[in-house]
Amino acid sequence: MRVLLIGSGGREHAMAWRLAGRASVKKLYATPGNPGIAQVAECISPSPAGPEDLARLAEWLGADVTVVGPEAPLVAGAVDAFRARGLAIVGPTAAAARLEGSKVFAKEFMARARIPTARFVTVENAEDGVVGLDRFPLPVVLKADGLAAGKGVVVAGERREAEQVLRAMLAGEYVGAAGRRVVIEECLFGEEVSFIVLSDGLNVAALEPTQDHKAVYDGDQGPNTGGMGAYCDSRIVTGSERRLILETIIQPVIEHMAREGHPFQGFLYAGLMMTSEGPKVLEFNVRMGDPEAQPLMLRLEGDFAEVLCAAAHGDLAGARLAWQDAPSVCVVMASEGYPGTPRTGVPVAGIEAAEAAGAAVFHAGTKLSQDGLVTSGGRVLGVTASGADLAAAIQRAYAAVEQIRFEGAHYRRDIGVKGLKRWG
Ligand code: AMP
Ligand code: GLY
Repeated sequence: MRVLLIGSGGREHAMAWRLAGRASVKKLYATPGNPGIAQVAECISPSPAGPEDLARLAEWLGADVTVVGPEAPLVAGAVDAFRARGLAIVGPTAAAARLEGSKVFAKEFMARARIPTARFVTVENAEDGVVGLDRFPLPVVLKADGLAAGKGVVVAGERREAEQVLRAMLAGEYVGAAGRRVVIEECLFGEEVSFIVLSDGLNVAALEPTQDHKAVYDGDQGPNTGGMGAYCDSRIVTGSERRLILETIIQPVIEHMAREGHPFQGFLYAGLMMTSEGPKVLEFNVRMGDPEAQPLMLRLEGDFAEVLCAAAHGDLAGARLAWQDAPSVCVVMASEGYPGTPRTGVPVAGIEAAEAAGAAVFHAGTKLSQDGLVTSGGRVLGVTASGADLAAAIQRAYAAVEQIRFEGAHYRRDIGVKGLKRWG
Protein backbone atom coordinates (compact mmCIF):
# COMPACT_ATOMS: atom_id res chain seq x y z
CA MET A 1 0.00 0.00 0.00
CA ARG A 2 0.93 3.66 -0.33
CA VAL A 3 1.15 5.48 2.99
CA LEU A 4 1.23 9.25 3.55
CA LEU A 5 2.54 10.63 6.85
CA ILE A 6 1.84 14.25 7.85
CA GLY A 7 4.39 16.02 10.06
CA SER A 8 8.05 16.93 10.49
CA GLY A 9 9.22 16.09 14.01
CA GLY A 10 10.93 13.31 15.92
CA ARG A 11 7.58 11.55 16.37
CA GLU A 12 7.06 11.46 12.62
CA HIS A 13 10.62 10.30 11.91
CA ALA A 14 10.10 7.44 14.37
CA MET A 15 6.79 6.53 12.69
CA ALA A 16 8.37 6.67 9.23
CA TRP A 17 11.28 4.52 10.43
CA ARG A 18 8.81 1.92 11.74
CA LEU A 19 6.68 1.98 8.57
CA ALA A 20 9.51 1.89 6.03
CA GLY A 21 10.69 -1.34 4.51
CA ARG A 22 7.75 -3.46 5.68
CA ALA A 23 6.30 -5.84 3.11
CA SER A 24 2.93 -4.09 3.12
CA VAL A 25 4.36 -0.61 2.47
CA LYS A 26 5.06 -0.24 -1.23
CA LYS A 27 5.62 3.50 -1.04
CA LEU A 28 6.00 5.88 1.88
CA TYR A 29 5.41 9.63 1.47
CA ALA A 30 5.77 12.34 4.10
CA THR A 31 4.77 16.00 4.11
CA PRO A 32 6.65 18.15 4.88
CA GLY A 33 9.03 15.58 6.44
CA ASN A 34 12.60 16.40 7.51
CA PRO A 35 16.14 15.28 6.54
CA GLY A 36 15.86 12.15 8.70
CA ILE A 37 12.49 11.17 7.27
CA ALA A 38 13.88 11.78 3.78
CA GLN A 39 16.20 8.79 4.30
CA VAL A 40 13.21 6.43 4.39
CA ALA A 41 10.37 8.29 2.62
CA GLU A 42 9.73 10.63 -0.26
CA CYS A 43 9.12 14.08 1.23
CA ILE A 44 6.76 16.67 -0.21
CA SER A 45 7.87 20.04 1.12
CA PRO A 46 6.56 22.57 1.90
CA SER A 47 3.39 20.95 3.13
CA PRO A 48 0.03 22.10 1.69
CA ALA A 49 -1.41 24.59 4.15
CA GLY A 50 -5.06 23.68 4.65
CA PRO A 51 -7.12 20.51 5.14
CA GLU A 52 -8.50 20.61 1.58
CA ASP A 53 -5.07 20.85 0.01
CA LEU A 54 -3.74 18.02 2.18
CA ALA A 55 -6.62 15.83 1.01
CA ARG A 56 -5.95 16.77 -2.61
CA LEU A 57 -2.29 15.83 -2.15
CA ALA A 58 -3.22 12.41 -0.73
CA GLU A 59 -5.56 11.85 -3.66
CA TRP A 60 -2.92 12.88 -6.17
CA LEU A 61 -0.34 10.57 -4.55
CA GLY A 62 -2.83 7.70 -4.52
CA ALA A 63 -2.33 7.18 -0.77
CA ASP A 64 -4.21 4.15 0.56
CA VAL A 65 -3.98 5.50 4.08
CA THR A 66 -2.78 8.76 5.65
CA VAL A 67 -1.63 9.16 9.25
CA VAL A 68 -1.38 12.53 10.98
CA GLY A 69 1.44 13.14 13.49
CA PRO A 70 0.77 16.57 15.07
CA GLU A 71 -2.43 18.06 16.50
CA ALA A 72 -2.70 21.24 14.43
CA PRO A 73 -3.97 19.65 11.16
CA LEU A 74 -6.43 17.54 13.21
CA VAL A 75 -7.87 20.53 15.06
CA ALA A 76 -8.04 22.35 11.71
CA GLY A 77 -10.21 19.58 10.21
CA ALA A 78 -7.83 17.49 8.05
CA VAL A 79 -9.73 14.29 8.84
CA ASP A 80 -13.06 15.88 7.92
CA ALA A 81 -11.66 16.95 4.55
CA PHE A 82 -10.26 13.46 3.84
CA ARG A 83 -13.50 11.71 4.80
CA ALA A 84 -15.51 14.04 2.59
CA ARG A 85 -13.44 12.73 -0.31
CA GLY A 86 -13.68 9.10 0.80
CA LEU A 87 -9.97 8.95 1.71
CA ALA A 88 -8.74 6.69 4.52
CA ILE A 89 -7.00 8.57 7.34
CA VAL A 90 -5.99 7.88 10.94
CA GLY A 91 -6.92 10.70 13.30
CA PRO A 92 -9.96 12.31 14.93
CA THR A 93 -12.31 14.77 13.23
CA ALA A 94 -12.14 18.42 14.27
CA ALA A 95 -15.10 17.84 16.62
CA ALA A 96 -13.34 14.93 18.34
CA ALA A 97 -9.99 16.76 18.36
CA ARG A 98 -11.55 19.29 20.78
CA LEU A 99 -10.41 16.86 23.50
CA GLU A 100 -7.01 18.48 22.96
CA GLY A 101 -7.96 21.72 21.21
CA SER A 102 -10.13 23.00 24.07
CA LYS A 103 -9.32 22.32 27.72
CA VAL A 104 -12.82 23.57 28.62
CA PHE A 105 -14.39 21.02 26.27
CA ALA A 106 -12.16 18.25 27.68
CA LYS A 107 -12.98 19.07 31.31
CA GLU A 108 -16.74 19.37 30.68
CA PHE A 109 -16.66 16.14 28.69
CA MET A 110 -14.89 14.34 31.56
CA ALA A 111 -17.52 15.66 33.98
CA ARG A 112 -20.31 14.30 31.73
CA ALA A 113 -18.58 10.94 31.30
CA ARG A 114 -17.58 10.75 35.01
CA ILE A 115 -13.92 10.30 34.17
CA PRO A 116 -11.57 10.90 37.12
CA THR A 117 -9.77 14.25 36.79
CA ALA A 118 -8.82 17.28 38.90
CA ARG A 119 -11.69 19.38 40.34
CA PHE A 120 -12.07 22.56 38.24
CA VAL A 121 -13.93 25.75 37.36
CA THR A 122 -13.92 27.65 34.06
CA VAL A 123 -13.66 31.45 34.05
CA GLU A 124 -13.90 34.08 31.32
CA ASN A 125 -13.23 37.28 33.28
CA ALA A 126 -10.96 38.43 36.09
CA GLU A 127 -13.81 38.98 38.57
CA ASP A 128 -15.01 35.38 38.37
CA GLY A 129 -11.36 34.33 38.23
CA VAL A 130 -10.54 35.83 41.61
CA VAL A 131 -13.59 34.19 43.16
CA GLY A 132 -12.61 30.93 41.45
CA LEU A 133 -9.09 31.02 42.85
CA ASP A 134 -10.50 31.16 46.40
CA ARG A 135 -12.03 27.73 45.89
CA PHE A 136 -8.67 25.95 45.51
CA PRO A 137 -5.74 25.38 47.85
CA LEU A 138 -2.22 26.27 46.70
CA PRO A 139 -0.50 25.29 44.52
CA VAL A 140 -3.23 25.84 41.97
CA VAL A 141 -3.17 25.01 38.23
CA LEU A 142 -4.18 27.48 35.49
CA LYS A 143 -4.83 26.28 31.95
CA ALA A 144 -5.47 28.40 28.89
CA ASP A 145 -8.40 26.89 26.96
CA GLY A 146 -6.85 26.76 23.49
CA LEU A 147 -3.75 25.26 21.87
CA ALA A 148 -0.63 26.97 23.21
CA ALA A 149 2.26 24.77 22.07
CA GLY A 150 2.85 23.39 25.57
CA LYS A 151 2.98 26.85 27.19
CA GLY A 152 -0.62 27.13 28.31
CA VAL A 153 -0.35 25.46 31.73
CA VAL A 154 0.97 27.15 34.88
CA VAL A 155 1.26 25.55 38.31
CA ALA A 156 1.24 28.56 40.66
CA GLY A 157 2.64 28.15 44.16
CA GLU A 158 1.54 31.53 45.45
CA ARG A 159 -1.78 33.30 45.36
CA ARG A 160 -0.29 36.53 43.99
CA GLU A 161 1.44 34.73 41.16
CA ALA A 162 -1.75 32.79 40.37
CA GLU A 163 -3.79 36.00 40.14
CA GLN A 164 -1.16 37.69 37.97
CA VAL A 165 -0.97 34.79 35.52
CA LEU A 166 -4.74 34.46 35.44
CA ARG A 167 -5.25 38.15 34.62
CA ALA A 168 -2.55 38.03 31.94
CA MET A 169 -4.06 34.91 30.35
CA LEU A 170 -7.56 36.41 30.26
CA ALA A 171 -6.22 39.67 28.81
CA GLY A 172 -4.64 37.75 25.93
CA GLU A 173 -1.16 38.76 27.09
CA TYR A 174 0.03 35.28 27.96
CA VAL A 175 -0.75 32.91 25.10
CA GLY A 176 -2.94 35.19 22.98
CA ALA A 177 -6.53 34.23 22.22
CA ALA A 178 -5.94 30.71 23.59
CA GLY A 179 -6.25 32.25 27.08
CA ARG A 180 -9.62 33.97 26.61
CA ARG A 181 -11.10 31.23 28.75
CA VAL A 182 -9.14 29.67 31.59
CA VAL A 183 -9.59 26.44 33.54
CA ILE A 184 -8.61 26.77 37.20
CA GLU A 185 -7.99 23.38 38.72
CA GLU A 186 -6.79 21.49 41.72
CA CYS A 187 -3.14 20.42 41.70
CA LEU A 188 -2.66 16.65 41.62
CA PHE A 189 0.34 14.76 43.00
CA GLY A 190 1.94 11.47 42.00
CA GLU A 191 3.81 9.87 39.10
CA GLU A 192 2.93 11.11 35.62
CA VAL A 193 2.27 8.47 32.98
CA SER A 194 1.57 8.81 29.26
CA PHE A 195 -1.01 6.18 28.31
CA ILE A 196 -1.75 6.06 24.59
CA VAL A 197 -4.23 3.91 22.66
CA LEU A 198 -5.18 3.60 19.01
CA SER A 199 -8.94 3.55 18.41
CA ASP A 200 -11.11 2.94 15.37
CA GLY A 201 -14.00 4.81 17.02
CA LEU A 202 -15.26 1.76 18.90
CA ASN A 203 -12.40 -0.65 19.66
CA VAL A 204 -9.01 0.19 21.14
CA ALA A 205 -5.52 -1.26 20.98
CA ALA A 206 -3.34 -0.05 23.85
CA LEU A 207 0.24 1.04 23.38
CA GLU A 208 2.81 0.35 26.09
CA PRO A 209 3.01 2.95 28.87
CA THR A 210 5.68 5.66 28.65
CA GLN A 211 6.98 8.43 30.86
CA ASP A 212 7.95 11.87 29.54
CA HIS A 213 10.43 14.34 31.10
CA LYS A 214 8.88 17.77 30.59
CA ALA A 215 11.19 20.04 32.58
CA VAL A 216 14.34 21.24 30.83
CA TYR A 217 16.85 20.32 33.56
CA ASP A 218 17.78 17.19 35.51
CA GLY A 219 15.63 16.40 38.54
CA ASP A 220 12.58 18.02 36.86
CA GLN A 221 13.98 21.51 37.42
CA GLY A 222 13.46 24.56 35.24
CA PRO A 223 10.74 25.53 32.80
CA ASN A 224 8.60 23.02 30.89
CA THR A 225 9.47 21.99 27.35
CA GLY A 226 7.73 19.89 24.73
CA GLY A 227 9.53 16.92 26.33
CA MET A 228 13.27 16.34 26.91
CA GLY A 229 13.13 12.57 26.69
CA ALA A 230 10.98 9.55 27.43
CA TYR A 231 11.28 5.89 28.20
CA CYS A 232 9.04 2.93 27.54
CA ASP A 233 8.96 0.08 30.02
CA SER A 234 5.99 -2.22 30.68
CA ARG A 235 6.45 -1.78 34.43
CA ILE A 236 5.51 1.92 34.33
CA VAL A 237 2.00 0.70 35.20
CA THR A 238 1.07 -2.57 36.91
CA GLY A 239 -1.46 -4.97 35.40
CA SER A 240 -4.20 -3.76 37.73
CA GLU A 241 -3.40 -0.09 37.10
CA ARG A 242 -3.59 -0.80 33.39
CA ARG A 243 -7.05 -2.39 33.76
CA LEU A 244 -8.19 0.55 35.89
CA ILE A 245 -6.97 3.05 33.26
CA LEU A 246 -8.78 1.18 30.49
CA GLU A 247 -12.01 0.77 32.50
CA THR A 248 -12.30 4.18 34.16
CA ILE A 249 -10.69 6.42 31.53
CA ILE A 250 -10.14 5.00 28.05
CA GLN A 251 -13.39 3.03 27.58
CA PRO A 252 -15.58 5.87 28.89
CA VAL A 253 -13.90 8.34 26.50
CA ILE A 254 -14.53 6.09 23.50
CA GLU A 255 -18.11 5.27 24.56
CA HIS A 256 -19.16 8.82 25.40
CA MET A 257 -17.54 10.41 22.35
CA ALA A 258 -19.45 7.95 20.16
CA ARG A 259 -22.69 8.53 22.09
CA GLU A 260 -22.28 12.32 21.72
CA GLY A 261 -21.94 11.95 17.97
CA HIS A 262 -18.16 12.41 17.64
CA PRO A 263 -16.60 8.93 17.66
CA PHE A 264 -12.90 9.15 18.44
CA GLN A 265 -10.73 7.51 15.83
CA GLY A 266 -6.94 7.83 15.96
CA PHE A 267 -4.36 7.99 18.72
CA LEU A 268 -5.78 9.02 22.07
CA TYR A 269 -3.13 10.13 24.54
CA ALA A 270 -4.18 10.28 28.18
CA GLY A 271 -1.72 12.27 30.29
CA LEU A 272 -2.31 10.75 33.73
CA MET A 273 -1.38 11.43 37.32
CA MET A 274 -1.19 8.20 39.32
CA THR A 275 -2.62 9.64 42.56
CA SER A 276 -3.26 7.91 45.86
CA GLU A 277 -6.93 7.81 44.76
CA GLY A 278 -6.06 6.13 41.45
CA PRO A 279 -5.27 7.38 37.96
CA LYS A 280 -6.66 10.82 37.08
CA VAL A 281 -6.51 12.68 33.76
CA LEU A 282 -4.27 15.75 33.51
CA GLU A 283 -4.91 16.25 29.82
CA PHE A 284 -5.85 14.54 26.59
CA ASN A 285 -3.90 14.76 23.38
CA VAL A 286 -5.39 13.52 20.14
CA ARG A 287 -2.15 12.14 18.69
CA MET A 288 0.90 10.22 19.81
CA GLY A 289 3.19 12.08 22.19
CA ASP A 290 6.55 13.44 21.20
CA PRO A 291 9.06 12.26 22.44
CA GLU A 292 6.96 9.28 23.66
CA ALA A 293 6.47 8.01 20.08
CA GLN A 294 10.21 7.52 19.69
CA PRO A 295 10.79 4.83 22.35
CA LEU A 296 7.36 3.38 21.45
CA MET A 297 8.18 2.91 17.77
CA LEU A 298 11.48 1.29 18.73
CA ARG A 299 9.62 -1.42 20.67
CA LEU A 300 6.66 -1.91 18.34
CA GLU A 301 6.66 -5.19 16.41
CA GLY A 302 4.57 -6.40 13.51
CA ASP A 303 3.11 -4.49 10.60
CA PHE A 304 2.28 -0.95 11.75
CA ALA A 305 0.77 0.01 8.37
CA GLU A 306 -1.75 -2.86 8.57
CA VAL A 307 -2.82 -1.73 12.03
CA LEU A 308 -3.20 1.89 10.89
CA CYS A 309 -5.32 0.72 7.97
CA ALA A 310 -7.51 -1.32 10.29
CA ALA A 311 -8.02 1.73 12.52
CA ALA A 312 -8.91 3.93 9.54
CA HIS A 313 -11.51 1.39 8.37
CA GLY A 314 -13.15 0.69 11.75
CA ASP A 315 -11.60 -2.75 11.80
CA LEU A 316 -9.53 -2.85 14.99
CA ALA A 317 -11.65 -5.47 16.79
CA GLY A 318 -9.37 -8.26 17.92
CA ALA A 319 -6.21 -6.39 16.85
CA ARG A 320 -3.41 -6.34 19.38
CA LEU A 321 -0.15 -4.54 19.11
CA ALA A 322 2.96 -6.64 19.74
CA TRP A 323 5.97 -5.27 21.60
CA GLN A 324 9.55 -6.26 22.09
CA ASP A 325 10.28 -6.91 25.76
CA ALA A 326 13.41 -4.74 25.77
CA PRO A 327 12.75 -1.34 27.40
CA SER A 328 13.66 1.72 25.32
CA VAL A 329 14.87 5.23 26.04
CA CYS A 330 14.90 8.47 24.03
CA VAL A 331 17.20 11.34 24.99
CA VAL A 332 16.33 14.65 23.31
CA MET A 333 19.27 16.83 22.32
CA ALA A 334 18.15 20.47 22.24
CA SER A 335 19.52 23.75 20.91
CA GLU A 336 21.10 26.46 23.03
CA GLY A 337 18.31 28.73 24.30
CA TYR A 338 15.53 26.10 24.23
CA PRO A 339 12.78 26.21 25.56
CA GLY A 340 13.21 29.93 24.91
CA THR A 341 14.24 31.12 21.46
CA PRO A 342 16.61 28.46 20.11
CA ARG A 343 19.86 29.19 18.31
CA THR A 344 19.59 27.62 14.85
CA GLY A 345 21.77 27.06 11.78
CA VAL A 346 24.43 25.25 13.84
CA PRO A 347 26.20 22.33 12.07
CA VAL A 348 25.42 18.86 13.46
CA ALA A 349 28.00 16.05 13.41
CA GLY A 350 28.35 12.49 14.64
CA ILE A 351 25.00 10.92 13.75
CA GLU A 352 26.58 7.94 12.00
CA ALA A 353 28.84 7.25 14.96
CA ALA A 354 25.79 7.42 17.23
CA GLU A 355 24.00 4.90 15.04
CA ALA A 356 27.08 2.68 15.10
CA ALA A 357 26.84 2.83 18.91
CA GLY A 358 23.47 1.08 18.59
CA ALA A 359 20.93 3.92 18.64
CA ALA A 360 18.28 5.14 16.23
CA VAL A 361 18.74 8.88 15.80
CA PHE A 362 15.43 10.58 15.02
CA HIS A 363 15.50 14.07 13.53
CA ALA A 364 13.22 16.72 15.05
CA GLY A 365 14.73 20.13 14.28
CA THR A 366 17.29 19.72 11.50
CA LYS A 367 17.58 20.89 7.94
CA LEU A 368 20.02 20.43 5.07
CA SER A 369 21.92 23.56 4.11
CA GLN A 370 24.99 24.31 2.01
CA ASP A 371 27.05 23.50 5.13
CA GLY A 372 25.40 20.08 5.44
CA LEU A 373 23.05 19.20 8.28
CA VAL A 374 22.28 22.11 10.63
CA THR A 375 19.91 22.73 13.54
CA SER A 376 16.56 24.33 12.70
CA GLY A 377 14.54 24.23 15.91
CA GLY A 378 14.52 23.76 19.68
CA ARG A 379 14.47 20.00 19.90
CA VAL A 380 17.05 18.80 17.37
CA LEU A 381 17.47 15.02 17.70
CA GLY A 382 15.90 12.14 19.64
CA VAL A 383 18.62 9.60 20.36
CA THR A 384 16.75 6.37 21.00
CA ALA A 385 17.97 2.93 22.07
CA SER A 386 16.75 -0.24 23.70
CA GLY A 387 18.55 -2.71 25.93
CA ALA A 388 18.15 -5.99 27.78
CA ASP A 389 16.96 -3.97 30.76
CA LEU A 390 16.24 -0.30 31.44
CA ALA A 391 19.78 0.36 32.72
CA ALA A 392 21.28 -1.09 29.53
CA ALA A 393 18.92 0.97 27.36
CA ILE A 394 19.88 4.15 29.21
CA GLN A 395 23.55 3.35 28.88
CA ARG A 396 23.30 2.69 25.15
CA ALA A 397 21.29 5.87 24.49
CA TYR A 398 23.81 8.05 26.35
CA ALA A 399 26.81 6.35 24.71
CA ALA A 400 25.26 7.36 21.38
CA VAL A 401 24.49 10.91 22.60
CA GLU A 402 28.20 11.34 23.35
CA GLN A 403 29.01 10.77 19.69
CA ILE A 404 26.88 13.72 18.54
CA ARG A 405 28.15 17.27 18.44
CA PHE A 406 26.61 20.64 17.79
CA GLU A 407 27.55 23.87 19.50
CA GLY A 408 25.36 24.75 22.47
CA ALA A 409 23.70 21.30 22.58
CA HIS A 410 22.08 20.45 25.89
CA TYR A 411 20.22 17.42 27.14
CA ARG A 412 19.08 15.87 30.41
CA ARG A 413 21.38 13.27 31.97
CA ASP A 414 18.62 11.53 33.93
CA ILE A 415 16.16 10.21 31.35
CA GLY A 416 14.71 6.95 32.69
CA VAL A 417 16.33 7.32 36.11
CA LYS A 418 12.90 7.53 37.77
CA GLY A 419 12.29 4.00 36.53
CA LEU A 420 15.65 2.77 37.81
CA LYS A 421 14.82 4.22 41.24
CA ARG A 422 11.40 2.59 41.31
CA TRP A 423 12.50 -0.87 40.23
CA GLY A 424 16.14 -0.94 41.37
P1 AMP B 1 -0.44 19.99 29.64
O1 AMP B 1 0.06 21.14 28.82
O2 AMP B 1 -1.92 19.97 29.82
O3 AMP B 1 0.21 18.73 29.20
O4 AMP B 1 0.14 20.15 31.11
C1 AMP B 1 1.51 20.29 31.25
C2 AMP B 1 1.96 19.72 32.54
O5 AMP B 1 1.41 20.45 33.62
C3 AMP B 1 1.53 18.29 32.82
O6 AMP B 1 2.34 17.35 32.18
C4 AMP B 1 1.70 18.24 34.33
O7 AMP B 1 3.06 18.07 34.66
C5 AMP B 1 1.26 19.61 34.74
N1 AMP B 1 -0.14 19.61 35.17
C6 AMP B 1 -1.23 19.80 34.42
N2 AMP B 1 -2.35 19.72 35.17
C7 AMP B 1 -1.96 19.47 36.43
C8 AMP B 1 -2.64 19.25 37.67
N3 AMP B 1 -3.97 19.31 37.78
N4 AMP B 1 -1.89 18.98 38.76
C9 AMP B 1 -0.54 18.93 38.69
N5 AMP B 1 0.16 19.12 37.55
C10 AMP B 1 -0.54 19.38 36.43
N1 GLY C 1 5.28 14.74 25.28
C1 GLY C 1 4.07 15.40 25.49
C2 GLY C 1 3.30 15.70 24.30
O1 GLY C 1 3.56 15.19 23.22
O2 GLY C 1 2.39 16.49 24.40
